[in-house]
Amino acid sequence: MPHAIILRHHGAPEMLRLEEIAVGAPGPGEIRLRQTAIGVNFHDCYVRSGLYRTLSLPGIPGIEGAGVVEAVGPGVAGFAPGDRVAYVTAQYGCYASERVLPASLALKLPDGVSELLAASVLLKGLTAGMLVRDVHPVRPGETVLVQAAAGGVGRLLCQWAAHLGATVIGTAGSPAKAAIARAAGCAHVILYREEDFVARVMQVTGGRGVAVAYDSVGRDTFDGSLECLALRGHLVNFGQSSGPVAPFAIPRLSARSNSLTRPMLFHYTAERPALEAMAAALFGVLASGAVRADPGRTLPLAEAAEAHRLLESRAAEAPLVLVP
Ligand SMILES: NC(=O)c1ccc[n+]([C@@H]2O[C@H](COP(=O)([O-])OP(=O)(O)OC[C@H]3O[C@@H](n4cnc5c(N)ncnc54)[C@H](OP(=O)(O)O)[C@@H]3O)[C@@H](O)[C@H]2O)c1
Repeated sequence: MPHAIILRHHGAPEMLRLEEIAVGAPGPGEIRLRQTAIGVNFHDCYVRSGLYRTLSLPGIPGIEGAGVVEAVGPGVAGFAPGDRVAYVTAQYGCYASERVLPASLALKLPDGVSELLAASVLLKGLTAGMLVRDVHPVRPGETVLVQAAAGGVGRLLCQWAAHLGATVIGTAGSPAKAAIARAAGCAHVILYREEDFVARVMQVTGGRGVAVAYDSVGRDTFDGSLECLALRGHLVNFGQSSGPVAPFAIPRLSARSNSLTRPMLFHYTAERPALEAMAAALFGVLASGAVRADPGRTLPLAEAAEAHRLLESRAAEAPLVLVP
């Protein structure tokens, strides 16, 4: 019998409980998928806690999965039973052993990419690519700041920015994570729970500041990231792991002609050609070895609550993947 994690009420990780579900046949334009690996992302924690109210309850959370096509619905071209695919979706429903999915979201996996790897890297890697290619295209010789550089997105982002020729300054919450950030290509790593990261960034850049600060930590680092910017530098706030950013006075940007963006991946992947181009870029840097991805730590789907606890406690040193 197919099963899934059903969220009935917002709250603590214990709200994530395994239940049996019914999965129908795929309709027009849809495929039915047997899922073999499900990515766990910070977004899932926001949905569970109720910070994001984007999943109707009761509902099945999760925005990233991989598996094997079992059946295709009428009118679906390009997919057949047995194909290995991965996907990201803003429509949720991923924490499940089986599901029906619009075929327009599915990406066929290249031979060198396992479903486990795909579920640990697709959403985070598409996000990293969006940040360094689309939101602020990184140029050779630029100095960039990456907050939470050892995180799931962070370590991919650092490698990709370094590959494009940037000098990467990363922040990390512990010496063990600093080692991960260094291995991901950071030329300088700052232990931001112990050191004043603004002062260190200014010291490293000779007082000039950075061309771009990629900040997914939010509340605790936003002001400091802004202070780290060079003239005409760009603050990219793409997450809020420490909490939402307080309301912001636009005139603060005029002090150094700075710019601020708040991108969301799903707005960049909304059109199929863009999604395919972004996935091709990601699979390209993985195949060339320019970006190395950790296949992640697996937990049974039934232990989704534990995965959320690990992510929220900052104790996860590898991307987390649920296996049905
Ligand atoms: N905008 C988008 O489209 C998009 C897409 C994907 C992800 N994101 C965002 O990117 C961020 C990273 O996602 P991820 O899944 O890769 O998670 P992650 O980076 O693996 O985990 C979050 C990290 O944030 C740091 N952190 C700092 N303060 C924290 C706090 N108070 N509580 C918990 N963590 C804290 C921790 O690293 P240290 O211990 O090193 O401080 C922690 O490991 C999330 O905010 C997520 O929502 C945004």
